[in-house]
Amino acid sequence: QSSTNTDETKTTKPTNLLDNASNLLTNFLSGGKIGSMPTAEGAVSDLFGKPLFFSLYDWFLEHGSVYKLAFGPKAFVVISDPIVARHILRENAFSYDKGVLADILEPIMGKGLIPADLDTWKLRRRVIAPGFHALYLEAMAKMFTDCSLRMTTKFEKLLDLEASRGGTKIELELESEFSSLALDIIGLGVFNYDFGSVTKESPIIKAVYGTLFEAEHRSTFYVPYWKIPLANWLVPRQRKFQTDLKVINDCLDGLIRNAKETREEADVEKLQQRDYLNTKDASLLRFLVDMRGIDADDRQLRDDLMTMLIAGHETTAAVLTWAVFLLAQHPSKMRKAQAEIDTVLGQGRTTIEAIKKLEYLRLIVVESLRLYPQPPLLIRRSLKPDQLPGGYRGNKDGYSIPAGTDIFVSVYNLHRSPYFWDNPDDFEPERFQRQKASDGIEGWAGFDPSRSPGALYPNEIISDFAFLPFGGGPRKCVGDQFALMESTIALAMLLQKFDVNLKGPPESVELVTGATIHTKNGMWCQLQKRQSNYP
Ligand code: HEM
Repeated sequence: QSSTNTDETKTTKPTNLLDNASNLLTNFLSGGKIGSMPTAEGAVSDLFGKPLFFSLYDWFLEHGSVYKLAFGPKAFVVISDPIVARHILRENAFSYDKGVLADILEPIMGKGLIPADLDTWKLRRRVIAPGFHALYLEAMAKMFTDCSLRMTTKFEKLLDLEASRGGTKIELELESEFSSLALDIIGLGVFNYDFGSVTKESPIIKAVYGTLFEAEHRSTFYVPYWKIPLANWLVPRQRKFQTDLKVINDCLDGLIRNAKETREEADVEKLQQRDYLNTKDASLLRFLVDMRGIDADDRQLRDDLMTMLIAGHETTAAVLTWAVFLLAQHPSKMRKAQAEIDTVLGQGRTTIEAIKKLEYLRLIVVESLRLYPQPPLLIRRSLKPDQLPGGYRGNKDGYSIPAGTDIFVSVYNLHRSPYFWDNPDDFEPERFQRQKASDGIEGWAGFDPSRSPGALYPNEIISDFAFLPFGGGPRKCVGDQFALMESTIALAMLLQKFDVNLKGPPESVELVTGATIHTKNGMWCQLQKRQSNYP
């Protein structure tokens, strides 16, 4: 029995602490309206000690795929159900905004796609999405290979040095190496700026990490302390954050100025046919500035670039980290991947054509994203009252929710749901080759690759929202193909040359989360040159 809505609570985007407090109250009151939902009572201790998404998983098994999580006066609805996720992300997407997430990210990303209000988002999404066209991705594949080579050459030099001392192995903290690689790639791909972070340190690189650190801290902190008047000047960490932001913004402003000074206006179709492989600047910024009829102001362009810098950096680094973490624990799968690389590439370079043949490697990438989705939770807030479907195990009538309801779509729970995956916690890239049936679950269409013809990687369409590594619906990641190719190429270039082992036991690699799932103290690995023979 779902409860009815009598008063329609107006959603307010909190702009100050008072608004925030009123939002908490709204949530408290709305607890009654969504009262028919199973409820998990969170204790404050659940917020500390282990990542929140672990507790959300335990409660999912206990309370079902749609439940309300009450933390004192604060309530969240937690969704672990493909049918309900599809409703929120796709079917009724415009009844939701990014809620708390937008509050956290707005000071950094301004009106960039992730936190943008709906009107800005509609305008910018239409301009940015066409930038990720086929010829751009082909040029990017070349750049991903060049950057990955820069990383593997560095490792080879270290191994040569070690060999001169009689050793055969080196120890490296791979998570930060992947982070440097991903930073270099996103800089070149989005605004044609070479951070060169694989081989050096610089003030701008430090500023990017400082900003990421602050974004991370904010996303795990439940009081928006940065909105307290004068906090930016009184709190030393806030002052540092403002300085870091200024360093990045000055750099981006310079790049935008430069791109505008060399603008060559053209229609979208013409821009998509440029010779990207042989141009000095294939970046997205070039595309955005050159597009005829679109005169984005500098501030908007800067927000767009900053958003993509943050959205595309740690996420990809995390995919690479967890893929290696999983492979190192499954040596036979690592060998299977290397055998595929040997057959397809030999000692050659990766290309877009090669990616099409590296099927097992592609499945390793998506299986890593299944087990460690980035981010593990998608955040939404309802803009108006809505009727959620009950889901596959929920209330048949569904649940009515009032405006202002905060929602977590737990991608982590969906990806490890025992109701949709065999042995959900096991690392088994091969599973995607056999996932099929809908198992008679009403309202869920099951796995079917023919729903997404030509897709190189399994996605939310093929799985009808049981697998959504890049979200789904209109707010789906714009950089999904960029990120998937980047991860496949970097992994191929690494495994082509090296055998990788974890330095300690897997349990010593502890998890923490902010926006992404990453390690607490890095992922220390041992690298040695490949023992096996190339064909
Ligand atoms: C949105 C994941 C890489 C740019 C998203 C969303 C997810 C996601 C799940 C949806 C968020 C939501 O619905 O709340 C990932 C993962 C990546 C990755 C796992 C790497 C493996 C990238 C890259 C770029 C990028 C490389 C840019 C070059 C964006 C943008 C959005 C977004 C701009 C907002 C889209 C919109 O609201 O219209 N990403 N992403 N991402 N991502 Fe990615």
